[in-house]
Formats: sequence, structure tokens, C-alpha cells
Amino acid sequence: MTKEINIGMLGFGTVGSGVATMIRENEQQLSQKLGAKVKIKKIAVRDLDKHRAADLNGSILTTDINEVLEDATIDVIVEVMGGIEGAHEAIEQALQSKKAVVTANKDLMALHGHKLLKLAGDNATDLYYEASVAGGIPIIRTLEDGLASDRISTIMGIVNGTTNYILTKMKEENWSYDEALKKAQELGFAESDPTSDVEGLDAARKMAILATLAFSMEVFLDDVEVRGMTSITTEDIELAEQFGYHVKMLGYAERDEDGVEVGVEPVFLKSSHPMASVRNEYNAVYVYGDAVGETMFYGPGAGSMPTATSVVSDVIAACRNLLLGVAGSRNIDYVNERKLKSQDQQKAQFFHRLLVKDEVGVFSELTSIYGRYGASLGSIIQRPGEKAGEAEVILITHPVSRKNHNGIIDELNQSSFVQKIISQYRVEGGEPR
Ligand code: NAP
Ligand code: HSE
Repeated sequence: MTKEINIGMLGFGTVGSGVATMIRENEQQLSQKLGAKVKIKKIAVRDLDKHRAADLNGSILTTDINEVLEDATIDVIVEVMGGIEGAHEAIEQALQSKKAVVTANKDLMALHGHKLLKLAGDNATDLYYEASVAGGIPIIRTLEDGLASDRISTIMGIVNGTTNYILTKMKEENWSYDEALKKAQELGFAESDPTSDVEGLDAARKMAILATLAFSMEVFLDDVEVRGMTSITTEDIELAEQFGYHVKMLGYAERDEDGVEVGVEPVFLKSSHPMASVRNEYNAVYVYGDAVGETMFYGPGAGSMPTATSVVSDVIAACRNLLLGVAGSRNIDYVNERKLKSQDQQKAQFFHRLLVKDEVGVFSELTSIYGRYGASLGSIIQRPGEKAGEAEVILITHPVSRKNHNGIIDELNQSSFVQKIISQYRVEGGEPR
């Protein structure tokens, strides 16, 4: 008799309906791959009367989450309801009753992933979370398996579709920031409250997850330096282009002998860098490994079916482990001690656009501020300001520590000849590190 594996789902919205569609449409293929039939037994939702996009037998819907979690015949729980507290409790309960869990919940994994993975191991079961980063791109599996042999030193990620869409439309179609954000909301990429997209928190959660895996070290959400994109102007985007850069909302995670640095912020990314060509809502993750060199993984970062692809692949992995009797045998221990770089050890290039008084001696006073902090200048230009007696100075530094950069910014703010720091960006995409 063909074996049957029962799935219980928590949530049946954008991602959940994609998962149900995929499991139904690929039923035969799944059975062949696993040698067992995969069946969705129950689905918890909030509202039984809501119209559902995916076609299914309505009697398997329930508003009681415990009907799913306490059903002893369910082997795998798929958590696609989102949120933190309710999902956290549900996943803990599922793992404690030795059910395998698949989740797409980046918010939860970034905050509690370390403990939940340990709980899964302690209960000899599995917790998979491929869809939590970059939707349809299998980047978690790539870091856990495909690149497991290498030592990864750099990750860069365009891991938020909404911000990349906004920046593409501002650059290519001359849309305003507000117009582009509104369209991203209409198209369904943005979170229900898009603050977490545009302020960088969504990307920070994903970078914490990626950095943990890439460096086999606990990286917490609080370790990620975050700066939002709301101050980017069309002028900055045009200026970036003149200097040979694209403005991108970029996540970066770097490590060397001093430790690890993780951040998310708008950057000037060299136009020749492969990540610069990632447009609209697409995501990409660039990984530099000592042996493999440069690699890049590209694809849709959100949406019902792309995200469902990752969820259902995790379901297959969990089912396979159950059938082989090896559930919970993945080693999730970290190889490296937590070691984060101090601000003195974090080095980067920076772009500055300053409004200064157009007076004799200003240029040399300006360069002496940078000199005092050991920052040499890669390029520098001056152009007339909008008003008489004002000039704009635009420059890019060579690598300087974050601590010294902060010192430069403080001195510029206090200086009598600098009227305003119009904008500042980290610069990325030079030689691979
Ligand atoms: P969604 O469309 O809002 O769907 C949420 C589903 O969960 C709905 O079916 C809702 O029921 C149900 N639900 C919520 N709270 C519940 C509760 N307390 N008890 C029972 N059911 C509950 O969300 P989504 O876009 O599918 O996202 C789901 C998860 O995937 C989130 O963690 C999200 O971050 C992650 N994710 C989403 C995407 C994407 O492209 N959407 C991509 C990657 C990861 P009702 O239908 O009755 O309201
Ligand atoms: N709001 C997210 C984005 C959805 O724009 O990338 C996918 O995580």
C-alpha cells in the first residue's frame, strides 16, 4: 500500500493558497519523487467565509489552530500565517509533539530561529525555512549544502523586492518615491505596513538569517546596522549614474580575521557589479567564497507561486527525512564563536555630497578634515550651488573605518563652511573582498 504523509497548514493566504495549488497540481510528481502520497489534511484560517483563490474541499478548513496542531495523524506542519507570537507558540508546540515544521516566516526566524532550530534537534524533528529569504531563490539550501565546502567571506543581497522596485521605477521611469511605493503595494510585494520594507527591517531580518548560515555563527537581528531608504532623492540617483554607480538598497555581510559585519542601507553600487543589473521586484544574492569565487543567485523574491516553490521543496525534504527515518539528524551547531567587528574594524568607501560656502580656502579646509581621519579621497568634484556664494562638493573616499567616518561627519556638521551634508552613501562593488 502507498504510504501517505499528512500535512497540516496554518494559514491559507497568498503563500498558503500557492502551496495548496502546487501540492494538488503536482500530486503525481510528488508521489513519484517520495514514494508516498502527500495529502493536505487540515488548514487553519481566521475567517471561514472568506473567498479562497485555491480550489479545495472546504471541510478541511478550521478556525481552531489546535485542531491542526493536536491531530496525531498530521506529520508535517506548514506555517504560512505570519506574525510572531502566535506563530512562535504554534511552531514550538508542533516541534514538541515531534512534527516536522516548514515555515516562510522571516520575522520569526530572524528573532527566534536559533532557539527553534535547537528545539527541533532536541525533539529529533526538522524545521525548514527556505521561503523566509528571497522567496523563490533556493539560497538557504545553497548555503547549507551547495557551498558547505567553501569559506564564505562576503554576501550581498537585494533581498527586498519592494525597495528594489521603487528604486528601479524612480531611476528608469522618473516616478516619485510615493508613486512607486503605492504601485508596489498594489502589486502585493510590500508588507501590509511597508515601513519594514522601506526602513530596511525586512531586509535586515533576511540578512541576519543569511549571515548566520554563511558564517556558521549566531548573528542576531540587533547585530545588523540598518538605515532606511526614505531620504533617497532622484537627484542622488542621477548623480550616482554620472559617477558610474546605481543606488541600491543592499544588505551586506562580510567577515575577515577581525570578525563579522552585517548591515542594510542604500548604497552606491558600481554599475559593472552583477547585482547592479537586478531590476524591479527581483531579488539576488551574491556570495563570494574563497574557493568558488563570485557566485550570484537571482529570481523572484516574493509572490504566491515562487514562494510556494520553496515551501513545497521544504515539505519534500521533511517528508523524505520522515520516510528514511532520519528526521532531526541535520547538524545545526555553529562552527564559529560570535565575533563582531568594532566600528574601528568596519571599513568601507563613502560618497558625500556637501553644500559649502564658495570661499577661498574652503577646499583645503575640507580635505584637511578628511586627512585628519586618515581618509584619502578617490574622486572629488566641485560644482556651483543653486545660490550665489554656494558650491556643491561631491567626493568618494578610499576605505575608511566606520569610527573615523563618524568623526568626519561630526566635524563636517560643526564646520562653519559646510552648510549642509546633502547626502551620504556607503560605496560597494569594487574588487571582490
Ligand atoms: P497572508 O496572505 O496575509 O495570509 C495569512 C493567512 O494566515 C491567512 O489565510 C489568514 O487567514 C491566516 N491566519 C493569520 N492569522 C491566523 C491565526 N491566528 N489563526 C489562523 N489563521 C491565521 O500572508 P502571506 O503573504 O501568505 O504570508 C504568509 C507568511 O509567508 C508570512 O510569514 C510572510 O512573511 C511569508 N512570506 C510571504 C511572501 C509573499 O510573497 N507573500 C514571501 C515570502 C515569505 P484568513 O485567510 O482567514 O485571513
Ligand atoms: N515585502 C517583501 C519584499 C515580501 O518586498 O521583498 C517578501 O519577503
